[in-house]
Amino acid sequence: MVPSAEGGLARPVLGSSLLIRVLGGVAAAVKAPANEVEETNKWLHQIGAGNGPTGSPDNGNRSSADTLESWIRALSKWHTGDSAVALGLAKLTVAVAALREHSRHDIPMEGSRLSTIWNIVYEALNIPCLQDTWAPSRSAQGFLALPLCSITKNGRIDELFRLHVWLPDGKRGNPKFSVHSHQPFAHSWILAGEGRDHQYEAREADIADDATHEAFGLSWNYGDGLSRAYSAHQQSSAVEPTGRRFCISEIGSALHRRNDTYTIPAGAFHSSEISPEVLHATLFYFDSSRGFIPDAPVLGPVNGEPFTQLRDSAGESARSLASHVQLVRSWEQFMDEGRQHASRAEWEHAMRAFINASRLCESPDAVMGMRRYRGLALGELGNTNRRFGRYAEAEGFLKQACLELEGFPEYSIFHGELGVVYRHMGRLEEARDAFQAQYASAKDLHLDLEACRAIGNLGMVNYQLSQGSGSDELLLVAANQLQERVDRCNSIRENILASERDPPVQRLRQLDVWAAIGLSRLSLCCAARSNIEEACRAAASALEHAKKTGDPTVVAISRFFHGRLLAAKGQHKEAMEQFNTSDGCTPAIAFCKEPSEEHRGYLEYLVDAGADMDLVDDQGYKALDYAVFNGDEPCQDLVLRGLRHQFSSESNLEELLRRRLREAKLRKGYRDVFQQKLRPVLLAGGDGCVGKLRVAYADAVAADAGVGEMFDRLKVVPYGELLRFGRLPRSSDRLFRELGTSKEADRRHFVIFFSYRWLNPMAVPSGGRADDEKHTQYRRMLGAIESFLASHKDVSREHLLIWVDYACVDQDNPSSGVAALPMILAQCDAVVSLIDDQYYERAWCSVEAMMISTLRNSYGVHQWYEQTIGEATTEGGEGTRGCGMLRDGPTGLSIDMAEKKLSFEEERPQLLFLERQIRLLG
Ligand SMILES: *[C@@H]1O[C@H](CO)[C@@H](O)[C@H](O)[C@H]1NC(C)=O
Ligand SMILES: *[C@@H]1O[C@H](CO)[C@@H](O)[C@H](O)[C@H]1NC(C)=O
Ligand SMILES: *[C@@H]1O[C@H](CO)[C@@H](O)[C@H](O)[C@H]1NC(C)=O
Ligand SMILES: *[C@@H]1O[C@H](CO)[C@@H](O)[C@H](O)[C@H]1NC(C)=O
Repeated sequence: MVPSAEGGLARPVLGSSLLIRVLGGVAAAVKAPANEVEETNKWLHQIGAGNGPTGSPDNGNRSSADTLESWIRALSKWHTGDSAVALGLAKLTVAVAALREHSRHDIPMEGSRLSTIWNIVYEALNIPCLQDTWAPSRSAQGFLALPLCSITKNGRIDELFRLHVWLPDGKRGNPKFSVHSHQPFAHSWILAGEGRDHQYEAREADIADDATHEAFGLSWNYGDGLSRAYSAHQQSSAVEPTGRRFCISEIGSALHRRNDTYTIPAGAFHSSEISPEVLHATLFYFDSSRGFIPDAPVLGPVNGEPFTQLRDSAGESARSLASHVQLVRSWEQFMDEGRQHASRAEWEHAMRAFINASRLCESPDAVMGMRRYRGLALGELGNTNRRFGRYAEAEGFLKQACLELEGFPEYSIFHGELGVVYRHMGRLEEARDAFQAQYASAKDLHLDLEACRAIGNLGMVNYQLSQGSGSDELLLVAANQLQERVDRCNSIRENILASERDPPVQRLRQLDVWAAIGLSRLSLCCAARSNIEEACRAAASALEHAKKTGDPTVVAISRFFHGRLLAAKGQHKEAMEQFNTSDGCTPAIAFCKEPSEEHRGYLEYLVDAGADMDLVDDQGYKALDYAVFNGDEPCQDLVLRGLRHQFSSESNLEELLRRRLREAKLRKGYRDVFQQKLRPVLLAGGDGCVGKLRVAYADAVAADAGVGEMFDRLKVVPYGELLRFGRLPRSSDRLFRELGTSKEADRRHFVIFFSYRWLNPMAVPSGGRADDEKHTQYRRMLGAIESFLASHKDVSREHLLIWVDYACVDQDNPSSGVAALPMILAQCDAVVSLIDDQYYERAWCSVEAMMISTLRNSYGVHQWYEQTIGEATTEGGEGTRGCGMLRDGPTGLSIDMAEKKLSFEEERPQLLFLERQIRLLG
């Protein structure tokens, strides 16, 4: 019954007899005019009669043709003339049938399929002539329900589909009656927003027990008195106490977000918790075939009063409801995209997505509650700008966000962000005012975490102000505020540990971060008040908290404050140990990562103290790299000053500093190209991924002259030319051509990268030869290519291109070719390593093996082979050893570059540089 789509997930079969049954339910739910229903009915029969919706004749293979996709195609070809209603009924019918079959056959629903189904429902909900008869109604749980398909049997729900929408209007059900059960089994698909479902165990209470709840019976009024028979169109519902009492306890809860799905057994007690300021929408299916409990009560207070819920429509129509849902779905999509881009430092894309999100909320469809959504998008715009150092823009967005968010929790959060921006800009009074607003509104709304954050920021800015004005009074205020931060961290932690069975690790870590920062700053205040002993205690305690967070940057900053106090006490050796320790980050690196006036001051202190400026963090970056990334010249100059001092005994000091700076700039260029242009393509994966990489790289190198100077273009030798040449060409033979420039042709190309050992390095680097007189490596390459082609029939000989360093990197001026090596290798579809007994001992070979190994493991779009050395064949004369076999490159490769052999020791810094780049490939 469940055919599987080609190579994909199982797809339900939607036969026309099923659709005809569903149509009856849709007609009842929509209260559609009979003639329109008849029209749809005729169409379903016609499509079903011997012809599948694909239009192909019935060949006994019908089932695989009756898919959602084929019905959608049939719908698009149906020209109904005047009757939009009949088409709308057909759309609802197809969508409902698809949901039903997914549920009944337990077929997973990916987000993209749910979107397809929702889009069909959305079109149907927009049909103008249906708006009069078909309206949503407010349920007792506070959401608006719109019936989509209602099939009843003997006054009972048999199958019922509804759209449920909780509007961001603050209206939620009466909390005293929130725990309830349903007669039928239920299945829910989340379209937008998030909600928490709580499940309960209920046991009937004995007289002696302290019952927590009383059962209430539910009945419906259709305009002629209460009845227990179900129909989709009710004027009101009522609950009345039954006298039966229950003890309930929560047995579980789950947060459901967009694309999630969950089921509720018949008669099971549950409740839904939806924040009053969010829109939450679900498609809901009651299915009696999978369970029906006649007695499914609502639980209310013991001795509670009867309760009537009017089924008013809250002024909403099917169409308006649909457009709210659609709007929030688009908003969520933009916000998700924006956050993803921001997390990959692709800030321009992030900004565009957030701007789109904020614009949505200005559209005429955006009704109540959308102000908050707009505020959130503006707030993200502010944060993104701040993260990229664009403080003036950040200020503008955050101020607007705060205007929209008054009264909401985020008001406090974005005031905090605004304060941070002002602090970075050195506008300390304004920063203080923003933190004050953050603190006051957090206290008003009982947001303990925000209040904790706010008071620490306030303390710090008051400390800074006190240093400017020399006010002891203000210094004392600052110290007290920082102490409050630390105390708040402790009490929140205790509350969490006392009340949560499963303490949230992330939140506890955040508290340690805040305590560490608070204590470090407290130590500043103490030191400023010449209380060195207390300052040291605070700084040591900060370091303890920092270590618990596992965040190297937080640890490094705490080390700085601790070290500075040790130095103040005359313990210079101990202080330097704090500054020179890199367990993932050093103080100097931490300050270069986030340059500000304050941080530059600390960096200068470190430079003057003689701290090591050449250490590497867990990302493979050094302090100078971050200073260059952030384009912060004062930081850059400070670090260079430190390096000059540190390496003052080196004979080639100037050359060394120039190389450091060049490497930092290369790394910035590398990050710009790889992270922003290539990585998104790699992450998207799919067919032709490597071809798209070549185009993206060529565009990036062409777009920016600076980048083009740093990184060589991708150059390759066509296989036919390599064959004709009869030996390994040198770059000066100019057999190569540039690739990636003509987009159309490049899609068919297949590029093989050869990684091999130079057999004849000779005396000077540029005079070396890659091969020997017998052309051993050249022959091995040809052999490997032929074996490859024999086992890859999909790769055509004409479109096969080869990358060999000797031919493709300018041997007389190799620097831009070498710098680009990791990105060049990433643009080759396959790497073939010509291994021999020395291959893995050689530094250049090892670095290439590490690159392909990392790429293959991280993205799964590259291939890697090893060609072994073959035995001499019988007819083999000199230099015609038979070729070895081609096998997959090893997994779990572990290489220590420091041990590898180099022909020219002066190339080692270059190799170490490349090795560091590899970490960024993954
Ligand atoms: C049934 O459909 C499959 C997949 O489309 C196709 O490969 C097969 O040839 C069809 N069988 C008949 C009898 O048409
Ligand atoms: C839901 O699925 C859609 C379509 O696949 C996807 O674009 C979206 O990001 C998903 N959203 C979430 C929150 O998983
Ligand atoms: C923003 O919206 C426009 C128009 O709807 C669309 O073309 C563009 O792709 C969107 N940009 C982003 C980054 O989402
Ligand atoms: C810290 O690093 C600097 C620079 O390398 C060095 O001169 C100093 O001796 C180091 N101090 C300690 C304690 O490791």
